Amino acid sequence: MGSEPSLDLNTAVRGHWEARSCGTWEEIVGDAPEKSLEWFRRVENHRYQAEPCIHAVAQFTRYHGKKILEIGVGAGTDHLQWARAGAECHGVDLTDAAIANTTAHLAHYGFRSELRRIDAETLPFADASFDVVYSWGVIHHSESPEKIIREIHRILKPGGRFIGMMYRRNSVLTLRTWVRHALLKGRPWKSFRQVLWNHMESLGTKGYTEPELKSMFGDFAFCETIPYLTVYDTDKIPRVIHQFFPPGCGWFIGIRARKQDR
Ligand SMILES: C[S@@+](CC[C@H](N)C(=O)[O-])C[C@H]1O[C@@H](n2cnc3c(N)ncnc32)[C@H](O)[C@@H]1O
Repeated sequence: MGSEPSLDLNTAVRGHWEARSCGTWEEIVGDAPEKSLEWFRRVENHRYQAEPCIHAVAQFTRYHGKKILEIGVGAGTDHLQWARAGAECHGVDLTDAAIANTTAHLAHYGFRSELRRIDAETLPFADASFDVVYSWGVIHHSESPEKIIREIHRILKPGGRFIGMMYRRNSVLTLRTWVRHALLKGRPWKSFRQVLWNHMESLGTKGYTEPELKSMFGDFAFCETIPYLTVYDTDKIPRVIHQFFPPGCGWFIGIRARKQDR
């Protein structure tokens, strides 16, 4: 699906996210000392103001006592919600930065998790060993999202849940990115796929349609996709205009899938 061949895309993806975990940008954390409680509080406050749909999709408190794996823990903000909800927490990420941030983030609140720095395209866990796998805004960054989804299905127990979010290709944010990096650069023939691959966060980012995602989660007994118009779509567009944008042209697609029972 990528527009350019890459010998080792996940090395580039790792390099991008090692520099800074998602959501820890300077304009969010300001002058708070790195990894201090205040630094993480600013990250958390900003995150749930910008992405209020996370709680609606994840429904953290429904999974008290369940064994969960988060793929792509980033700064550990959602991981903290799983810990607060009383889940048995395990997490993985491609970067050392994310593992260090998540460890420090949870420690401020007296929680811990089994965290590992690995590429989720091969998960070092036994078949049928998790009740829930959660992954917010991660799978579309990897070289082979299909491999990660196969691994998620393998490690879920019968009846287990996948909960997460992936990006929509045909979204307002993609259109804005295309205007900036294709149209205004005199290259209107560039596709949405190419623009996302080259200009959205780490190299190789992909976006999907809801039918494509349902097909990728086709091994699951059930898969619901939930469209969300986000602040990233509507930023700087007057409300009188963006109030008419439907959720189906928004950047986020929430996903809730269930593996078949035994
Ligand atoms: C956009 S950030 C999202 C982080 C966090 N879930 C959040 O919402 O803030 C993407 C994260 O996915 C991780 N990631 C990307 N590809 C991965 C892979 N193949 N295996 C594990 N983690 C991966 C990156 O290191 C990065 O921390």
